[in-house]
Amino acid sequence: MKNKPSLHSIFYPLFFIVSFNIFSKNVSTAQETPIPVRVGVVLDMDDYVGQMTFDCISMALSDFYATNGHYKTRLVLTNRDSKEDVVGAAAAALDLLKNVEVQAIIGPLSSAQANFMINLGDKAQVPIITFSATSPSLSSIRSLYFIRATLNDSSQVQAISAIIQAFGWREVVPIYVDNEFGEGIIPFLTPALEHVHVRVPYRSVISPIASDDQIVTELYKLMTMQTRVFIVHMRTNLGSRFFTKAKELGMMSEDYVWIVTDGISNELNSIDPSVMESMLGVIGVRPYIPKTKEFDDFTIKYKKTKALSSDLNIFGLWAYDSAIALAMAVEKARVKNATFIKANFSRNSTDLEAFGVSRTGSKLVQALSSTTFRGLAGDFKLVNGKLQAPPYQIINVVGRGASVVGYWTEDIGIVRELNFTNANTKAYSTSKSNFGSIIWSEGKTYPPKGWVIPTNRKKLRIGVPVKEGFTEFVQVTWNADNSSKVEGHCIDVFDAAMEALPYGVPYEYIPYADSNQKSAGSYNDLTNEVYLGNFDAAVGDVTIVSNRSQYVDFTLPYTESGVKMVVPIIDDKRKNAWIFLKPLTWDLWLISFCSFVFIGFLIWILEHRINEDFRGPPWHQVGMIFWFAFSTMVFAHKERVISNLSRFVLIIWFLVVLILIQSYTASLTSMLTVQKLQPTVTDVAVLIKNKDNVGYVKGSFVLELLKKMNFEESRILAYNTPEEMDELFSKGSKNGGIAAAFDELPYMKLFLSKYCSKYTMVGPTYKTDGFGFVFPMGSPLVPDISRAILSVTESKKMVDIEKKWLGDEIKCPESSTLVSSNSLGLESFWGLFLIVGVAAISAFIIYVIRFLRENWNVIERCDTESTVWSKTVELLQRFNNRDLSSHTFKNIERRERDNGCGGDCQKRAMESSDENLQLSPSTFSLQSPHTNGPPSPVFSTPRERRKIFREQVISSENEFGKTPGETSQVIKQEIELVNPNQNEQLTSQ
Ligand code: GLY
Repeated sequence: MKNKPSLHSIFYPLFFIVSFNIFSKNVSTAQETPIPVRVGVVLDMDDYVGQMTFDCISMALSDFYATNGHYKTRLVLTNRDSKEDVVGAAAAALDLLKNVEVQAIIGPLSSAQANFMINLGDKAQVPIITFSATSPSLSSIRSLYFIRATLNDSSQVQAISAIIQAFGWREVVPIYVDNEFGEGIIPFLTPALEHVHVRVPYRSVISPIASDDQIVTELYKLMTMQTRVFIVHMRTNLGSRFFTKAKELGMMSEDYVWIVTDGISNELNSIDPSVMESMLGVIGVRPYIPKTKEFDDFTIKYKKTKALSSDLNIFGLWAYDSAIALAMAVEKARVKNATFIKANFSRNSTDLEAFGVSRTGSKLVQALSSTTFRGLAGDFKLVNGKLQAPPYQIINVVGRGASVVGYWTEDIGIVRELNFTNANTKAYSTSKSNFGSIIWSEGKTYPPKGWVIPTNRKKLRIGVPVKEGFTEFVQVTWNADNSSKVEGHCIDVFDAAMEALPYGVPYEYIPYADSNQKSAGSYNDLTNEVYLGNFDAAVGDVTIVSNRSQYVDFTLPYTESGVKMVVPIIDDKRKNAWIFLKPLTWDLWLISFCSFVFIGFLIWILEHRINEDFRGPPWHQVGMIFWFAFSTMVFAHKERVISNLSRFVLIIWFLVVLILIQSYTASLTSMLTVQKLQPTVTDVAVLIKNKDNVGYVKGSFVLELLKKMNFEESRILAYNTPEEMDELFSKGSKNGGIAAAFDELPYMKLFLSKYCSKYTMVGPTYKTDGFGFVFPMGSPLVPDISRAILSVTESKKMVDIEKKWLGDEIKCPESSTLVSSNSLGLESFWGLFLIVGVAAISAFIIYVIRFLRENWNVIERCDTESTVWSKTVELLQRFNNRDLSSHTFKNIERRERDNGCGGDCQKRAMESSDENLQLSPSTFSLQSPHTNGPPSPVFSTPRERRKIFREQVISSENEFGKTPGETSQVIKQEIELVNPNQNEQLTSQ
């Protein structure tokens, strides 16, 4: 603390001379005596701030009444020295209230002094106006009569946390003075830091009367920690000594970040220049004071009277503004009777009971609350009895002064320059690029990383698991001298990540082994060792799982995540026998079958009247329907269709059949070539139901997962190596082996790369987060290593590491391809069926309309015997008869005529058609001219014709008693009549 000579005793009478002169002058000119209003001032008059602020108050009133001579009130100051003491301040206030009956008190300086004074003011209903008691704890007193014409310390915590966020520091230690002022900020600072994910691992509290040795002891303690970012909240008297000692201990070096609150940065000009030099690189926040003409004029004026007091700082400006605000409020409140209402008190009453209540207090408070003006320290405006916070200036101590490196405002965060015109258009930002150039400790131009490896440890002790199997991930090899070599995929990834850090961190691997060089515990145990502080980190195939993350921090994962089930695969011979059914789903099979029958039936309808192929006995016709329909499947139908409607339907149907057949063939081919093997089991529920044994890698968290999945603990077997796993599978669950194994994807892929042909992964993937590196909770290394992991995994380095340890990825068939049905479903073909259906129904409707039109006379008939039933029967009969008008039958008639049959052949054939054989329009009709028997049929093939000829011969012989020789002679003649070539063919048979 800097003690200046106490000159206020010189200035004080001087002020009254000045004010008396002004007062007298105004009396004579205004002819009206201004009302004197007594105001108390309680300050530490031996402190340079007390002296300076008293000067400012005096100058404020002098200036104010010089320009406002017409005011009807005059503040008359009564000064009391609080003697830098809480009790002194209370005594001074009591005296002012009781004996002077002041209407307001300006002061005190410190928050501790203010605490009691606020209560006194509240009791006497006298406003207590402080311009320097900044502790947030004072707000909790909630007195209407407490006016804080200064900033609450809590308003700067957002600015401080924004700076820390900008540089990405993860841990800070607040160092504060152990009093009302120091402690008051902590309940606000800690949540503000937590809000930006910054940890406060420790708080350093320094007594306001701490000796240098005590400061050094505390600094040594801070030195042993890994955190290197400190927030210092104290006044300059203690702060100067603190930084002097920090410099002596080498704590102003390049690793350290020092951020000071406005407790120091508001009073930098009171710090000794040599101490300032040792504070190189310190960052500070302080309220922004706009540079106005009034400010400049006052500074010049103040400097002129500087011989009377000390350096001006923001408290002087607030003191000045407070005095002006009070003078304005007193005038506004029209204070006339500035006296107290005296309480009745007895002779034995204490001082605290002896003073009365101010008559003007509440009016004054109201007037102060509504008083606004542009003061020297910025806009003076009280909200809820508090001054509104201005933007904060961010300063950097360089040499004997400080440079402004940025600003912080509540709306836009950190900015290089304040620009009030576009303040509302910018988004909140805490980018470090918004700062001007900062000189850090030791003159460095780049920010410190904010932490170091604690000085009591040389290297990070990294625990690694000791494993028997899956050593591709981590392998510990023991040397004869008990030393060890650690290598593997995880180790290479960690080394690469550490290399990618922007700073060097020394570390060593320590196997987590017992005295026999065997694993000392599970992965959970290893994680716990990090939590207990026995290792600084753990590196290996440790999986990020929720319950571990309650105790330690994980970096980002660097492997695939998830737990899968692996089961043996077998040849599925049984299913292969029916594999031809698999290409189509059942609904597609069904709809295809129905479609074939429907098309066959429709073609029969369309052809029945005009095509001999679709005529004949009923069973023959039913057979024809099915035969014709299904022969279209392989395009093997021999029957010609005659109707254009049939052709139209068929051509569309052929397209559908073609597509179906092609798709079926392709699907079956792929099934026959791919689908050879099946997993033995695909469902966990089946394993549980069958009480099958399952396996997992020893020490893994998968054990807990399996228990959660309701596997009995006795059914869960552990294995160490892929070979053991294979052996357990070979034994089978019934013989003490396993039916399935559960493990993380990296292990399973490694296992399958060796046993691809025997096992497969099936079932869902149980979500986990892959392997990560383990660090103690809140370790500042975690975010940096996570970023480094990302840069490694995204680079070719990761591919090389994987290739080196895990080999090239072997593509084993996924279970999903084995068991999932890739049958073709109706959903892929319904469009085709729709088209053919529409075509078929259209054809049918056209046919029916045409048929009904041709036979309209039947429908129209209205004689008494014609009922609906009789008409229907007749229509059906007509449908069953040949359509002699069709061109097919006309052709036959023409041929018969050409062959001399004169139309009789056809006629007879027509008559017998219902009970007899069919006539093909493509062939000829045959009838014996010598018989009255049934007409001979017409056949399309020589074989058919021969068969019928023989039957007719036998029947003629029976009927007419002819000898076979005679009969054959007759037939020969007949054949010659009908078709001379037929005879030749027949004889040659
Ligand atoms: N990777 C096995 C475990 O972390 O439990």
